[in-house]
Amino acid sequence: MTISPFHTHRKDLDALAAADRRRALAPRTGADFASNDYLALAGSYALGEALAAGLQRGLPAGSGGSRLLRGNHEEHEALEAHAARHYGSEAALFFPTGFAANAALFATLPQRGDLVVHDELIHASAHDGMKLGRAGRVDARHNDAQAFDDIIARWRRGGGSGTPWIAVESLYSMDGDRAPLADLAAVADRHDAVLVVDEAHATGVYGPAGQGLAHDLGRRDNLITLHTCGKALGCEGALLCGPAIVRDFIVNRGRPFIFSTAPSPLTAWLVRQALEIVANEPERAARLHGLIRHAETRLAALGLPASGSQIIPVVIGDNGRTMRIAAALQAAGFDVRGIRPPTVPEGSARLRIAITLNVGPREIDAMTGALATAMAEA
Ligand SMILES: Cc1ncc(COP(=O)(O)O)c(C=O)c1O
Repeated sequence: MTISPFHTHRKDLDALAAADRRRALAPRTGADFASNDYLALAGSYALGEALAAGLQRGLPAGSGGSRLLRGNHEEHEALEAHAARHYGSEAALFFPTGFAANAALFATLPQRGDLVVHDELIHASAHDGMKLGRAGRVDARHNDAQAFDDIIARWRRGGGSGTPWIAVESLYSMDGDRAPLADLAAVADRHDAVLVVDEAHATGVYGPAGQGLAHDLGRRDNLITLHTCGKALGCEGALLCGPAIVRDFIVNRGRPFIFSTAPSPLTAWLVRQALEIVANEPERAARLHGLIRHAETRLAALGLPASGSQIIPVVIGDNGRTMRIAAALQAAGFDVRGIRPPTVPEGSARLRIAITLNVGPREIDAMTGALATAMAEA
């Protein structure tokens, strides 16, 4: 028999299994402690109604082409104008996903001779964008503004003459902690750098009208923010916000933007409605913050630390034990997922408990009770 053309893939999967790292798609069951649907908008009546209204207006399901060709629809532009006003930026550009937006941003904007200094915990999509780009890249210690400053200063002393880029998340997706944005903005100003803030997990949840954590920095010529629409906004897609030149440059040079079918005009409409809902109904975020405090109290009783946000990591360390605890919780009716390397650093496998409005205090109480049992038994 000939050798399977997939024998190396098989070996790789076997090695992942041996390290308790092989993944498989699992259906969604049980109370939601795993999604990023923080404000419970994804399945909400409000967004369902907005969808029906969009259909009634005759919006097409598909865009029919890329933005630079026939795919550009007035709903894309209406959303971008709305988003720029909402997030306080000069311009915005809509992408089908946050991954595509980060890929386009980091592959396109930093130029040869520039240096991207990124937090060591930055999302995979930023890494993949950087790999496609031409600038140098180096990681800085997590949330250490001084480390960013030192790296850029050293690079300058060594003859670096391009633009430094500082890439961070405002709220880290697997740790739930916040970046020191004011300090990082000061570093950016000191070094004529651009600060790129991925607000994926802060959008809709933080800021007076859900504008995120970077909103406090005000409009700046050297600030770019990314607001994904598939998490608290309950839809999909992403809005890249910043100076008009950034939008114009990506429209002209950003291959993931140029050579890709534009998102559905219906989605663009839905996202605009989601932004309105979040801005007009601040009680949703307020309720979530109340639930977060409730969960923190229950977890503290188990000796588990809070992260200060809706993303609460319970670091277990061992991959197998993490997945056994997650499986026990799932069997008890709670959808808590285990997160293993390479999504998180080696040796820091964890349960990522997400608090959303899809659950209430009673489910949180029951889940933390089951967690105590599962941790004792695993
Ligand atoms: C910090 C961060 N950035 C970007 C993305 C990608 O966004 P999307 O899911 O819209 O592709 C994610 C998704 O998990 C994320 O957590």
